[in-house]
Amino acid sequence: MRKKVVAGNWKCNTTLQEGVELAKAVDAVVAEKGAEDVVVVMGTPFTHITSVVDAINTERIGVASQNCAAEAKGAFTGEVSAAMVKSTGAEYVILGHSERRDYYGETSEILNKKLALALENGLTPIFCCGEALAIREAGTQNDFVINQLKETIFQLSAEDFKKIVIAYEPIWAIGTGVTATSDQAQDMHAAIRAAVAEQFGQEIADGVSILYGGSCNPKNANDIFSKADVDGGLIGGASMKAEDFIQIINAY
Ligand code: PGA
Repeated sequence: MRKKVVAGNWKCNTTLQEGVELAKAVDAVVAEKGAEDVVVVMGTPFTHITSVVDAINTERIGVASQNCAAEAKGAFTGEVSAAMVKSTGAEYVILGHSERRDYYGETSEILNKKLALALENGLTPIFCCGEALAIREAGTQNDFVINQLKETIFQLSAEDFKKIVIAYEPIWAIGTGVTATSDQAQDMHAAIRAAVAEQFGQEIADGVSILYGGSCNPKNANDIFSKADVDGGLIGGASMKAEDFIQIINAY
């Protein structure tokens, strides 16, 4: 059985103190209510990772960075390497988010370097893909997204691919309050899984977790997560409120 994953993406939000409080609140509720059969992850700013790891029970909740450098180490002022992330206690790294692709020029070539370093250092990449509104309106979203995957994670060996979590995040739904319908999500997730099967075989396709992201909230999570090929969510805005995030975790 593939894993259900609910991952928060705090983006560039919260001071260290606010982030630790948020993490503690989520951890307390997960401890109390449990998050049965769901892997819970919090994607915090780099500066918060160590403190969050110290503040929560990492047996219950995993911590992710939201990026890592495309180089292993050296004279790259301001960059944070995959090895550094790993040394903080984080186990995951979000890669290929559309905000990184659009605002920071992250190409497939750059992402392939980051993927390789993340995997070499034992981090689990949560790899994002997704189309802009114009592509959705043109009806070419499936080809576009699958091409994003062909240029990146489909280049990996089968062994490495098995370590990846995929997050489908239509750009038009991110932070907009407009969510893809559960049928739109299912359609894309099924297309991604079929493409994975073609590339790596059915067994690997059946094992890969594919998360939905884009204005997922406590009201719509249940419907979206009910779809056969949706294995959880990558949650931005709603992961910033402990109660909302918990409700999404419990949507399963
Ligand atoms: P959102 O963000 O839930 O605020 O739409 C999702 C994401 O960008 O990961």
